Amino acid sequence: MPKKTTARTKSAPKKRVTKTSIKPSAKPIRPARPKRIGVLTGGGDCPGLNAVLRAVVKTAVINYGWEVIGIEEGFEGLLTPGKTYPLELKDVRGLLPRGGTILGSTNRGNPFEYRQVKGKKSSVVDISDVAMKTYKKLKLDALVVIGGDGSLKIAQRFAEKGINVIGVPKTIDNDLMATDSTFGFRTAVMTATEAIDKLHTTAESHHRAMVVEVMGRYVGWIALESGMAGGADIILIPEIPYDIKKVCEKIRRRNQLGSKFSIVVVAEGAKPLGGDVTVLAKKKSEHALDRLGGVGNRVAAQIDEITGVETRVTVLGHLQRGGTPTAFDRNLSTRFGVAAVGLVAEGLFGRMVCYRNFQIESVPIHEAVGAFKAVDPDGQFVRTAEAIGISFGR
Ligand code: F6P
Repeated sequence: MPKKTTARTKSAPKKRVTKTSIKPSAKPIRPARPKRIGVLTGGGDCPGLNAVLRAVVKTAVINYGWEVIGIEEGFEGLLTPGKTYPLELKDVRGLLPRGGTILGSTNRGNPFEYRQVKGKKSSVVDISDVAMKTYKKLKLDALVVIGGDGSLKIAQRFAEKGINVIGVPKTIDNDLMATDSTFGFRTAVMTATEAIDKLHTTAESHHRAMVVEVMGRYVGWIALESGMAGGADIILIPEIPYDIKKVCEKIRRRNQLGSKFSIVVVAEGAKPLGGDVTVLAKKKSEHALDRLGGVGNRVAAQIDEITGVETRVTVLGHLQRGGTPTAFDRNLSTRFGVAAVGLVAEGLFGRMVCYRNFQIESVPIHEAVGAFKAVDPDGQFVRTAEAIGISFGR
């Protein structure tokens, strides 16, 4: 297994070294030509992307005297002319609390499997060499890819083709291996928690069951953490296929004991025992992903029918991807951005910065992609929730 390395972050900016202060024998701190690094944000957006961009630019410019080139709309920006521009300190001012990404992002545009439409015919082609040419034309020394599983897989393929890639893990789903947390996740959890808090009061007033569908793709981290923080009665996650009878039993029991309302948090990837996930739209290409959604309505209809308790559904959707990042996510983003530039300085390419045991480290990108980091159905978090009476429908 390749050795893990700790991405060195500098505690204080280096003093500017003037020509006169360099002794003839001293190793120059700056290379002959300042390095030039490209940065792009790929896949679904999430709170904290701008904070990473800000940290990358500030570290590169202030600490090393390098140039940063912003690449718009993920890898698409390396394929289409006119989608790159220098990112200077003035461009990243005020970005820390701003959600989204100033560079734009897209889930489409994988250069290795690019959908090309000619007349009525569409085909999938490998145009990664176009991106390679742009990388060379821009005279980039490295490319920082801020993305989730999909974007990092593409980054890995470019690393294999010779680009000096550094990965930065992002996703509200928190499903990436090799990092305890991705930035954006905690903001999404906070957004969902606030929504659950609000649904509590209306559920109580109307004696209803409220079903809240949250994002998370094939893992239940957002549902688990927001459900527990929001005092949910039932949490349904992909890792624990639910038995609708158990869900209904829990709601009936609550009613019998005088709690005439229930809060049910459902992860979009939750599935019934022996059943499958609910798909909103089928994937359009082999390497794309199905769009999940609809399980909340499915569960609500069954609760209504089986228990007779009036039930309503709220699908939080993209609200969870928006807004200003929490303090934790801002700081994680900043630490990732600084560490990513640190890896470039050390020449440690093909690696992804990660967060482990409160420290920023780095791992080879291939160790982080391809498999999802799932909730342990018998882990401490789930057991803790069950100890306070939360049902997982099992
Ligand atoms: O991966 C982040 C995520 O928000 C998932 O939780 C969700 O399933 C998906 O992206 C939605 O993607 P889109 O923005 O393409 O609808």
